[in-house]
Amino acid sequence: MSSIQIPRGTQDILPGESEKWQWVEQIAKDICSAYQYKEIRTPIFEHTELFQRGVGDSTDIVQKEMYTFKDRGDRSITLRPEGTASVVRSFVSHKMHGLPDQPVKLYYLGPMFRYERPQAGRFRQFVQFGVEALGSDDPAIDAEVISLAMNIYKKAGLKNIKLVINSLGDPESRTAYREALVNHFKDGIHEFCTDCQNRLEKNPLRILDCKKDRDHSLMKSAPSILDFLNENSSNYFRMVQNYLTQLDIPFEVDPNLVRGLDYYNHTAFEIMSNAEGFGAITTLCGGGRYNGLVEDLGGPETSGIGFAFSIERLLAAIEAEGLDIEFTKPLDCYFIVLGEKAKEKVVKVLQDIRLNGISAEMDYLNRKMKAQMKAANRLQAKQVVIVGDEELDRGVAVLKNMESGEQKEVEWNKLFDEIKSVM
Ligand code: HAM
Repeated sequence: MSSIQIPRGTQDILPGESEKWQWVEQIAKDICSAYQYKEIRTPIFEHTELFQRGVGDSTDIVQKEMYTFKDRGDRSITLRPEGTASVVRSFVSHKMHGLPDQPVKLYYLGPMFRYERPQAGRFRQFVQFGVEALGSDDPAIDAEVISLAMNIYKKAGLKNIKLVINSLGDPESRTAYREALVNHFKDGIHEFCTDCQNRLEKNPLRILDCKKDRDHSLMKSAPSILDFLNENSSNYFRMVQNYLTQLDIPFEVDPNLVRGLDYYNHTAFEIMSNAEGFGAITTLCGGGRYNGLVEDLGGPETSGIGFAFSIERLLAAIEAEGLDIEFTKPLDCYFIVLGEKAKEKVVKVLQDIRLNGISAEMDYLNRKMKAQMKAANRLQAKQVVIVGDEELDRGVAVLKNMESGEQKEVEWNKLFDEIKSVM
């Protein structure tokens, strides 16, 4: 029979690789714990309407990239393409605005699904780590969220990263800017791609983000959002920058940074990799403020800010920077078992010491001593216990320290302490 292939844009994470995932995920979780962000888990599928309303009907994600299907009850269901809409839905359904501790600070980790053209750093199933802080419009929380992302990357060892920020302003500033953009582009829009022609009325900001038309002269002469920010918006943006400076986080302001989702206002940011050989897609992380989203999804007026990044791109950046990280842990102890009687004894001892937090392994293939020793070496065992019938009869086992090569006989009742003393 022919074998079955993995779907395009997905991948298996095998042992050897999965340790890397666990390592970076743990860094992100530890930092969230220090910053007091608590984990939330939401379903992998939601009603399609959530993303139409939450992410925005005119976005590429909703128009072209969603995995949407009818379930057996004829409901339109979508595999989540991102996490923010689900978190906000959950915030509203559980009335989290009423919790005593505000802002509500959440993080999530899980697979997201987008029907995109697969390439390096772009998958159809990818794992996002994200945070959302809901219930505060203090610019200091914007800086906290941005610094949290930056510190995850720093803790993972990345050096070649760049933070880019922008302000998309409040609705008043956005409306003024939108109008200016439509006026700027409308006479030449027929020279742009069909996507941009559609964007002119629906979402002109997205034209600035178009990869196909990026060299068009109208792009370079386009008005800047920063000239359209009203006083409130520009003060807000200035304060975010002040706080970032206080936190010693360098940044660049890019007025063309518009982000691909509709819910943003005020602060928008991306973290890019500058590492050589990272590939065409350099964005590691994206986020921003979304003050109207809770209301759009049926909740009370609540401000929010967050970000998400994929583990795939973080690991690609670690690889591109050539960081020397020890992902796999060596084995504490390998039992070389010679004979059936020895095995009977060892299965129980193995269980006891594993339950005491020591990683231990034994042979299950009845291999010869030499092959078992090779296995112990492959697993980088720190110690090896050799158990043969003759030693068993005398109530001892042979303990070998693999680093020093030193070998000695140890009584069974002292074995645990001996193993522990070397760890
Ligand atoms: P996004 O910019 O669509 O924003 O995605 C955030 C990050 O997810 C990207 O920077 C990238 O690391 C990763 N990502 C997106 N698509 C793919 C893909 N096809 N393959 C691999 N990685 C991918 C959001 O999703 C917003 N929900 C972020 C946010 C949270 N804004 C506020 N709160």
